[in-house]
Amino acid sequence: MKALILAGGKGTRLRPLTYAMAKQLVPVANKPILHYAMDSLYQAGIRDFGIIISPETGEAIKLSLHQWLKDDARLTFIPQDEPAGLAHAVRIAKPYLEDSDFIMYLGDNLINADLGGHIAAFQSAGYDASILLKQVPNPSSFGVAELDSLGQVIRLVEKPKVPKSDLALVGVYLFKSSIFNAIDRIQPSWRGELEITDAIQRLIDDNAVVHSRIHPGWWLDTGKKDDLLAANHVVLNQYLNYEIKGDVDEASRLEGRIHVEAGAVVIGSHITGPVIIGKDCRIENATIGPFTSVGDGCVLKDCQIENSVILEECHIEAVPGCIEESLLGRGCRIIKSPDTQESHKFLLADHSEIQVV
Ligand code: G1P
Repeated sequence: MKALILAGGKGTRLRPLTYAMAKQLVPVANKPILHYAMDSLYQAGIRDFGIIISPETGEAIKLSLHQWLKDDARLTFIPQDEPAGLAHAVRIAKPYLEDSDFIMYLGDNLINADLGGHIAAFQSAGYDASILLKQVPNPSSFGVAELDSLGQVIRLVEKPKVPKSDLALVGVYLFKSSIFNAIDRIQPSWRGELEITDAIQRLIDDNAVVHSRIHPGWWLDTGKKDDLLAANHVVLNQYLNYEIKGDVDEASRLEGRIHVEAGAVVIGSHITGPVIIGKDCRIENATIGPFTSVGDGCVLKDCQIENSVILEECHIEAVPGCIEESLLGRGCRIIKSPDTQESHKFLLADHSEIQVV
């Protein structure tokens, strides 16, 4: 069994962050989203990984995965010149996949699934394809499955305006090489992409065995800011352990599960977990948490931050009020203006968003 991980695409829904970085490399609890996918595939026994990359972010993905790399894992990078759809990505991966069964994993999805059990069931039953479904409140944003009274999938539609059910396709799929023939017989969708949803529908029309399973755990598609904050919330809640490697002074108060990396200094601050503070941060006279991830090398001074994801090297100082539900890219600065008059001064990249009171 090989894995095909999709780490291309443009990430338009996470702008402006994705002008500067791949959406799959945005960190959740200080670890790139893509590394969660790699870890769970590796734990499921996969050692052979094909990774679809785009011209814009391919080098950054390679660099990040070389940091992840395990001794017995093999990585093959497959360039996709344009975001022409998930089924297009599978098609161009054919020379890598050959006739092998494979698990396709969308690199911006976070899911707590027993992939090992899922793979074993697929192989022993000899299904042509196996998909995971999850009930969602907004099915029109996903591929949607319609099941019959026996729970068999009868129809799959990509982003239907009027969904027939609330069961969305989760971004983890199991295929045999029969999917290539199905892909050869589909046309681009209204969004101009070759949809994997349409290729699976083609298998169903061919009377192939398409198995589905309702995923019992959580699944987060991290495509947008609020989804990413939700992912940060869930991952911190589920996985974070109390560990203090940095220096916390006596005047600071720590409550709950807090992880402070080496080289970080916490002075006169109040931290309410779950919170992760990256390497070499300086947290001074600040109130942080809950549900906050702070990347390496940040300076947070005289400020209050909760429910937020702050990437590396940010500097936040003397900001009145509470910063909440915020997502800050690398090296952002939020500081109090030296002017006495009440005014705001901004330097914002395209598609930045600020909410003021
Ligand atoms: C893709 C699939 C969709 C699936 C979703 C899961 O959507 O086309 O069927 O439900 O991933 O994340 P996209 O992210 O390309 O909009």
